[in-house]
Amino acid sequence: MKRVLFVCLGNICRSPTAHGVFQHVVDCGGLGAQVGVDSAGTAAYHVGNSPDPRSVSAAKSRGYDLSALRARQAIEADFQQFDYILAMDHSNLENLKDLCPESYEGHLGLFLDFAPNISESEVPDPYYGGSDGFGHVLDLVEEAAEGLLADIRRELN
Ligand code: 4NP
Repeated sequence: MKRVLFVCLGNICRSPTAHGVFQHVVDCGGLGAQVGVDSAGTAAYHVGNSPDPRSVSAAKSRGYDLSALRARQAIEADFQQFDYILAMDHSNLENLKDLCPESYEGHLGLFLDFAPNISESEVPDPYYGGSDGFGHVLDLVEEAAEGLLADIRRELN
């Protein structure tokens, strides 16, 4: 079993998108019983909330259902549960490093490290921008999701 946690700032735009897309890719790849997926935010602003309607709608247009997801904050105990903790941007990663116990042996890093063909290192925050930003988040997330699945397949084999 491998467990993956996607982390952004609010857990209402980028990390729920990664959560929904990666769950879909895992299920389609027949690994639903071997890979656990979750998401969280470094901030508590939106705890308990549904994903941003703009994220839900952009994801739905590509066949992903984010509607059941609810925001939560990342906590230190997550480092005992998750083999991969993947940040959407450098700021999220720095906040996670502050929370990370020295004994953590999993993979803490940037999600886009799993998309070597993409020149960007961060999934940009779409919250204050236009609707194009949500489609761009999906483009990046879909590419990195495939790379992450390939990495996990190697780990499981
Ligand atoms: P996310 O986007 O980190 O991708 O969920 C944001 C959501 C909310 C806020 C910022 C970013 N906010 O400031 O409320």
